[in-house]
Amino acid sequence: MNKKTVHDIDLKGKKALVRVDFNVPFDPQTKAISDDSRIVAALPTIKYLIDKKSKVIVCSHLGRPNGKVVEDMRLTPVARRLSELLKKPVQTTKDCIGPEAEAAVSGMKEGDVLMLENLRFHAEEEKNDPLFAKSLAKLADVYVNDAFGTAHRAHASTAGVAQYLPAVSGFLMEKEIDFLGKALAGAAHPFAAVIGGAKVSDKLALLDNIMGKVDYLLIGGGMCCTFLKANNIGVGKSQVEEDKLNLARGLVDKAAKANVQLILPNDVVVADKFATGASVKAVPVSQIPADWYVMDIGPQTVKNFTDKLKKCKTVVWNGTMGVFEYKEFRRGTEAIAKQMAELKAITITGGGSTAEAVMELGLEKKMSHVSTGGGAALEFLEGKTLPGVAALLDK
Ligand code: 3PG
Repeated sequence: MNKKTVHDIDLKGKKALVRVDFNVPFDPQTKAISDDSRIVAALPTIKYLIDKKSKVIVCSHLGRPNGKVVEDMRLTPVARRLSELLKKPVQTTKDCIGPEAEAAVSGMKEGDVLMLENLRFHAEEEKNDPLFAKSLAKLADVYVNDAFGTAHRAHASTAGVAQYLPAVSGFLMEKEIDFLGKALAGAAHPFAAVIGGAKVSDKLALLDNIMGKVDYLLIGGGMCCTFLKANNIGVGKSQVEEDKLNLARGLVDKAAKANVQLILPNDVVVADKFATGASVKAVPVSQIPADWYVMDIGPQTVKNFTDKLKKCKTVVWNGTMGVFEYKEFRRGTEAIAKQMAELKAITITGGGSTAEAVMELGLEKKMSHVSTGGGAALEFLEGKTLPGVAALLDK
C-alpha cells in the first residue's frame, strides 16, 4: 500500500484516534453480538498502539441511527467485548465529542483504551461536517484509520478528520488493501473471479472492472438469471432485471473479445416456491419450468466451476451461488467455499454475505483473506477510490 501506516509515525505517549468499523451484528433474540470478527480484526492495530504506549481512543459507528441517540445502538456492548478480547479495561463515554469525552481523554494514561460513543448519533458525522471533524481531531495527536468496512464513506471520522491530524492506516486497512489490490494488479494466473448474489445491477461495475484481469469469470447466484435470459433462456419465475439485459449481453461480448472464459450455469436447482420446504429438483438450464424459481447452481455447474478453480493461482469470490439463507440451497456456495479452502492459491472472499457464508461454513481460516468490508470491498474491486484511504498520508 502506498499510504503511511502506524509503522511510519512516532506513537509513544501520543493520543491516537483510531477509527474502526465495529458495526457488528446482534442476535435479535439474545441481543448479544452474533459475529465479533470485525472487532477481532482490529485487535492487531489496537494492541500495537497499546504496546507503543499510545493513549488509544477508539471510535466507530454502529447501525444507522440517523443523527439521533438510539439506545439500542450504543457501543457499550461492543466496548465490553473489546475489553474481553484485550483482557484490559475499556472505558466508554456517553458522547463521542464534547467536554465529557475531552475529560475522559485527559484522564488517560499511556496504554489506556477508551471507546467513544457511536459517531452517527451526530448527523454531522455522515455529512462530513468540518466542525464535527475538528471536535474529533481535538481529542488526539494522530489519526489511525483501521475501518476498511467504512472506507467507502466520506464521513467526518473516515475522511474529514484526516485534514486536521497526521493520518495513517492501521494493519487491517493495510491488509485489506494489499489483498484486494492483488486482485486488481499483479495477480498470479490463472485467475478466476466467482461472482454471485441476487442482482446483476449490484455487480455490473465489478464485472466490468475485473473483466480484463481474469482468465475465468464464473457467474452464479440469482444474477445469473439475467445473463441466462439475455441468452434467450427462460428462467421461470426468477427475478430478471429486464433493463440490464443489454448490459449483460455487452459483458458476454466483452469477455469473448478479452479472451476471458465467462461461464454461466448449465444446470440449476429450482423450487416450486421461493421458500424453504418447497419441492426441489436440479434441471438443465434449458428445462427450467415456467412457474418455478432458480435457487442455486446445479451439480454439473458445481463441477464445471470447481474444475476451473482447481487450475487457479488466484481466486476472488463475491456473492453467494444460491439462496444461502435456506439450507437446501446452500450446496453451490458450500462447494465453492470448500474448493477455495483446498486450493494452494491466493483466495480472497468479499465481505458481506460472502463472508457470512464462509464463516457459517467454518472455512474463514482456510482462505488467504476474508474481507471485513461489504460495500467497501465491492467498491474497491470496482476500481473506485475509497475516500477513507485517499485521505491518508502518502508514503
Ligand atoms: C458496513 O457494515 O458495510 C459498514 O459498516 C458501513 O455501514 P453503512 O453502509 O451503514 O455506511
